[in-house]
Amino acid sequence: MPKPKVLVTRKFFDEAIDLIKTVADVEIYPSEEDPIPREVLLDKVQDIDGLLPMLTDRVDQTLLDRGKRLKVVSNYAVGYNNIDVNEATKHGVMVTNTPDVLTDTTADCAFMLLMAISRRLVEVDKFVREGKWVKAWGPKMLLGSDITGKTLGIIGLGRIGKAVVPRAKGFNMKILYHNRNPDPEAEKLGVEYRSMDEILAESDYISLHVPLNDNTKHLIGKPELKKMKKTAYLINTSRGPVVDENALTKALKENRIAGAGLDVLYEEPTNPKNPLLKLDNVIVAPHIGSATIETRLAMAMKAATNLTAALKGEQPPDLLNPEVLW
Ligand code: DGY
Repeated sequence: MPKPKVLVTRKFFDEAIDLIKTVADVEIYPSEEDPIPREVLLDKVQDIDGLLPMLTDRVDQTLLDRGKRLKVVSNYAVGYNNIDVNEATKHGVMVTNTPDVLTDTTADCAFMLLMAISRRLVEVDKFVREGKWVKAWGPKMLLGSDITGKTLGIIGLGRIGKAVVPRAKGFNMKILYHNRNPDPEAEKLGVEYRSMDEILAESDYISLHVPLNDNTKHLIGKPELKKMKKTAYLINTSRGPVVDENALTKALKENRIAGAGLDVLYEEPTNPKNPLLKLDNVIVAPHIGSATIETRLAMAMKAATNLTAALKGEQPPDLLNPEVLW
């Protein structure tokens, strides 16, 4: 019997490719930085049994209609807003993601942004490099905001939101959270439930950890930003469209909130002319929440493990649509 065929849509980790090769023939789209063009993906999907896409590749009805042989889509990300899972289920295609292995790394990134924006790290570094440090040390030079003892509001107390908790505890922060429903583990974690309005009004820092879907698009827009303290900071390591970026830009420009630390933007990559990039009270990173050597390799192994399990006729460990097996 010929081996199944797999397409990996970007240059990838050898260790993961070796694992996939134990069960399949693998084609790798040979680009490090550029996503596979849509037409190429739509053409190649006709001929494959397994797809390992990046979060930049859209897996929708058009693609699934063409992928007549497709059995599994193993996303290289925990977030899967790039995939129409319902449509995949209708097409009998398994969908998997890469949870757990990136939880701590992403929580680190959220806390890094929180610290960096509150102490103006990028701004002060620029200040020195651009030769602006021409006067002696002064009591009011480049003041930031304290973290210790402040209130952190976590919106979305899932795996990553929960991992932010011990980091914030290290700074003696009071920790509030908002979920659709209160979390039974909250008391044990030492975090207090608040309504959306309460968390916006009480927090000094708000960190977003929700998946992107129809309910969370523009979760933070003009009305929500208005409810935040003028001295508060917004941290987003989830997905860009969770925040109405135009409203945020305006709020930051008018100093309606103190600042924002963003690992994700509405459009990625963003236009270098994005007015957000002109502001000092925002730090922007290019979606690097999980970008460490250890974590990206662990994600690759997880994606490869899910893919090979599916192709062997087993249930993949991180199957998002188990109903496809019914
Ligand atoms: C994810 O996995 O969803 C991140 O955004 C990238 O690691």
